[in-house]
Amino acid sequence: MAGILEKEVPAGDGRGLPGSENAPVLVVDGLVVEHRNRTTGEAFRAVDQVSLSVGAGESAAVVGESGSGKTTLAMAVTGLGPRGEGDVTLLGRSLATLGRRRLRELRREVQIVFQDPHGSLDSRQSVRSGLKELRGLQRERTSWIDDAGLLERVRLSPDLLDRYPHQLSGGQAQRVCIARALLMRPRLIVADEPTSGLDVSVQADVLTLLREVRETTGAAMLMISHDLAVVRSVCDTVHVMRRGRVVESGPCETVFTDPSDDYTRELLAAMPGARWRARR
Ligand SMILES: Nc1ncnc2c1ncn2[C@@H]1O[C@H](COP(=O)(O)OP(=O)(O)O)[C@@H](O)[C@H]1O
Ligand SMILES: [Mg+2]
Repeated sequence: MAGILEKEVPAGDGRGLPGSENAPVLVVDGLVVEHRNRTTGEAFRAVDQVSLSVGAGESAAVVGESGSGKTTLAMAVTGLGPRGEGDVTLLGRSLATLGRRRLRELRREVQIVFQDPHGSLDSRQSVRSGLKELRGLQRERTSWIDDAGLLERVRLSPDLLDRYPHQLSGGQAQRVCIARALLMRPRLIVADEPTSGLDVSVQADVLTLLREVRETTGAAMLMISHDLAVVRSVCDTVHVMRRGRVVESGPCETVFTDPSDDYTRELLAAMPGARWRARR
């Protein structure tokens, strides 16, 4: 079967988008997102003054333990969840200044891969009919490849086109989700714990695929994970989140070998294998 690397995937058409190729794809500045505590009803900051940026073609990670605010951040920057206070700029456009139509257009440049692939796919649709629906919504953007070619890019057999989600393994279903994202030629891929719900045996393959997708499409990636090994294998830079705040940011190599924050050290110390241990 042909690998994803064999043909270059055309980048998003970027029509009407300002800025040079090297301008950051995503800039988050002083973002605050509040939720209400489900028991007490009190508001609290799930994301608290977060600032970060993701350059074109860059792969950035957000790591932190469960409940640190990673998903809330992902939802806010993609416009899928509460936007909160502060500024989010996608491809040079501040989300707060956009009307609904413009926001919808801009959101096509961003694709999200979630933790639970079966939950992200419509259980009533075969893989083929799901792709057909996407193509119907975005004809020009999606005409660059046919269904069989697209599945080959994610190393799936075209035989799977007529399957329904429940007939796919977790790894296959996540590959279908990645294929659907790839079809839209995004400028930014946000992956929220994309391997956490999968069997350990297929996690590495799915990560390799994500890395290849990024390399061949030139899309930037924001990878969200509680797993530092995942981040280290895929990302250039890392932002460590704790209780809604970014406590440390930098190139993966620096943060993982010479962390400056105690919490980062704790995360690293919790990882198996001396290779990952930080210098003290
Ligand atoms: N819709 C919501 N309503 C109320 N609280 C929420 C909601 N979503 C998340 N939270 C809470 O916000 C905090 C951050 O959650 P989340 O962003 O999902 O963190 P993470 O993805 O790092 O596990 C947690 O305390 C979580 O319980
Ligand atoms: Mg989460």
